[in-house]
Amino acid sequence: MLQINPKLSVEKISIFSTIAQLCSTHNAINLGQGYPDFDVSPLLKDRVKHYLKQNKDQYAPMQGIQELRNILAKKYTSSYKTAINPDTNITITAGATQAIFTCIQSVVLPGDEVIIIEPAYDSYGPSIEIAGGKVIPVMLNPDFTMDWNAVQKAVSNKTKMILFTNPHNPTGQIWSHEDFLALSQIVNNTNILLLSDEVYEHIVYDGKKHLSLLDYPELSNRGFVTYSFGKTFHATGWKMGYVIAPDNLTRAFRNVHQWNVFSVNSFLQYALADYLKDPDTYQNLSVFYQTKRDYFQREMEESRFKSIPTNGSYFQLYDYSAISDLDDIEFTQWLIEKHGVAAIPLSPFCSQDSKWKVVRFCFAKKEDTLSIALKRLQKV
Ligand SMILES: Cc1ncc(COP(=O)(O)O)c(C=O)c1O
Repeated sequence: MLQINPKLSVEKISIFSTIAQLCSTHNAINLGQGYPDFDVSPLLKDRVKHYLKQNKDQYAPMQGIQELRNILAKKYTSSYKTAINPDTNITITAGATQAIFTCIQSVVLPGDEVIIIEPAYDSYGPSIEIAGGKVIPVMLNPDFTMDWNAVQKAVSNKTKMILFTNPHNPTGQIWSHEDFLALSQIVNNTNILLLSDEVYEHIVYDGKKHLSLLDYPELSNRGFVTYSFGKTFHATGWKMGYVIAPDNLTRAFRNVHQWNVFSVNSFLQYALADYLKDPDTYQNLSVFYQTKRDYFQREMEESRFKSIPTNGSYFQLYDYSAISDLDDIEFTQWLIEKHGVAAIPLSPFCSQDSKWKVVRFCFAKKEDTLSIALKRLQKV
């Protein structure tokens, strides 16, 4: 028998694929996976058509087209406190997932430890394992805020990187200034690198401001920051994103990127570069999603689910302990089969037994979709 010794020890199907499959079997409404069911802006689609007609069909430069990197450099230099050079600090990627994967492959060596904050987005762990690194999970506090004492305790002389998500998926929590101060204290005078996954940077509620790693130059000089056009422009299927990093980390990143993806979709890069010229295309996103969040929360008050406040992202956690004793995976299956609505359980985001009776709903849906789902959830 052929021995292949695969790199990933456990053959795991992502919870998103499992739930999507169950959803289609039971014809349920999918408030599980994080994607919008409304259309991309016609203006952006128009730009895409334009560049297809212009025959922008061949390989883009490895690091991404100049026009797109220029407009991103302008956007980030004016929004945050780190000056961004389009040539040495930005690389366009095939979505944030590839950006995160490549960041990790470019610096994590066998035996290195990477601290991740759980519940954690599910691509982090396998990406670290593939690099030969060791995942060191640190749980959020019971109220889903950062437990900085636990992060400090998890640091060892093998810690290569701390990876975090802000705004956080699945909890919707956002970082405060104090969180960045706590992080600074931990990494000062160490060689620890940072990876800040900020794909929901433009979705922050109640007038709050997203604080980026790029607001803290003494931290961003040791960190990668990853972004997703898919999340910002309702186009998750386009798989377009980018990474911002200082010169030395960008060089390490591109050294891997060029042998992996090499370069990403060219006509979409031109279209995005045009579209980004108008900041309204992303600056109004929080207001747009807050209307949906408020509607969802208001109607869920008529249900037996208990809301856990969300400050960012298009997710909302709900406690179902007043409804059922089932664990979160069983409860999610039951919700799909009996009530025709899908949520995402929290336990697949954790390597340790989480014991939370909590599921995540995605409210990035048309009002019609939410309205049907809410009527069903009110009957649970
Ligand atoms: C926290 C987080 N990071 C990264 C991604 C992946 O982004 P992309 O679709 O651009 O690969 C997601 C998608 O759900 C996410 O929630």
